[in-house]
Amino acid sequence: MRLLVTGGAGFIGSNFVRHALRAQRDLELTNLDALTYAGNLENLAELEADPRYRFVHGDICDAALVDRLMAGQDAVVHLAAESHVDRSILDAAAFIRTNVQGTQTLLDAARRRQVARFVHVSTDEVYGSLGAEGKFTEASPLAPNSPYAASKAAAELLVRAAFHTHGQPVVITRGSNNYGPYQFPEKFIPLAIANALAGQPVPLYGEGKNVRNWIHVADHCAGIWAALERGRAGAVYNLGGDDEVDNLTLLRRILARLGRDESLIRFVPDRPGHDFRYALDSALARRELGWRPALSLDEGLDRTVAWYRANGAWLERARDGAYRSYYETQYRARLERGQEARP
Ligand code: NAD
Ligand code: DAU
Repeated sequence: MRLLVTGGAGFIGSNFVRHALRAQRDLELTNLDALTYAGNLENLAELEADPRYRFVHGDICDAALVDRLMAGQDAVVHLAAESHVDRSILDAAAFIRTNVQGTQTLLDAARRRQVARFVHVSTDEVYGSLGAEGKFTEASPLAPNSPYAASKAAAELLVRAAFHTHGQPVVITRGSNNYGPYQFPEKFIPLAIANALAGQPVPLYGEGKNVRNWIHVADHCAGIWAALERGRAGAVYNLGGDDEVDNLTLLRRILARLGRDESLIRFVPDRPGHDFRYALDSALARRELGWRPALSLDEGLDRTVAWYRANGAWLERARDGAYRSYYETQYRARLERGQEARP
């Protein structure tokens, strides 16, 4: 199979590229990635000599490049995106360009080149927020709340239109919150680990009561692979983990694993429009794809903390000058107004 992966130098993308090359021997995999702040070739360094793997540095909005790369592909797994909610609140422009325009550029080329499979990797954030009860099914209405989520919902609607209008063989996956190796330390779990390892306070939004449905990236990648192999054309599949936890409890578990004191917890002003809770019903993926997550949050966190401990040099390179100036913009004022956790 000839497979085009977009965004393969990012967190989930690099885990997915490794998963795919392990899962299928006769694979020719092309990874198209623009290497934004979130893309890192170090994540795939061990594959440089693998003759089945090719990296192309480029933009999914570059129609000529995308059309050339699409020729002869059997399938596409589209992961490239601007992915961080907080950055979309600061400036949404890149989210609209990459997530919306980039997705249409890929769909157009895939249609021209008659690609037999197009897996679009989306997110549970397209559903918006839940209260304390219930779970989202694939039939739940789309109600995105952040500019990031809105751009992902817009992308999904274009994928849906490609199926209904042009009969393109698309499949959409909606994953819950991922964590694991190679996640950029702007996201909560690696940020918490990185700060705690450095003895720095960890910013916790609001009262730390928001709930997320965590899935280890290896389980998410297995779900995306199952959707590629067995997904029904036109279908949407939720890919959620089994564990739900509020952010304060999660942070306490991380600090305990690192042997760090809870005085590092800093309650800071909340994210504007902060979704309270996400939870996915993944029964359809279990039934139709034969997929289910294998790792509990406890086991996944053990592995993840161990990975970041063992890869301190990777983490420090990720926390470079550009990261420091982002961190300043995002957190300086918040941390000045923040409060330590009370015992
Ligand atoms: P990430 O930010 O770590 O990686 C994104 C990658 O896309 C980077 O390598 C970046 O260089 C590349 N990229 C960005 N703009 C590009 C462009 N214009 N052209 C080509 N490449 C470009 O993101 P992630 O967390 O690995 O997420 C991957 C995908 O999975 C995204 O589509 C995201 O919406 C989705 N998703 C993420 C999660 C999560 O919890 N992280 C959960 C569900 C779904
Ligand atoms: O649900 C899937 C989504 O999960 C993906 O589509 C997104 O790409 C991914 O970024 C993630 O979105 P979240 O906003 O849920 O993830 P984040 O890691 O930014 O935040 C997780 C929770 O932790 C959320 O409730 C906000 C909170 N948080 C986050 C940061 C960065 C804090 O309390 N402090 C922080 O510094």
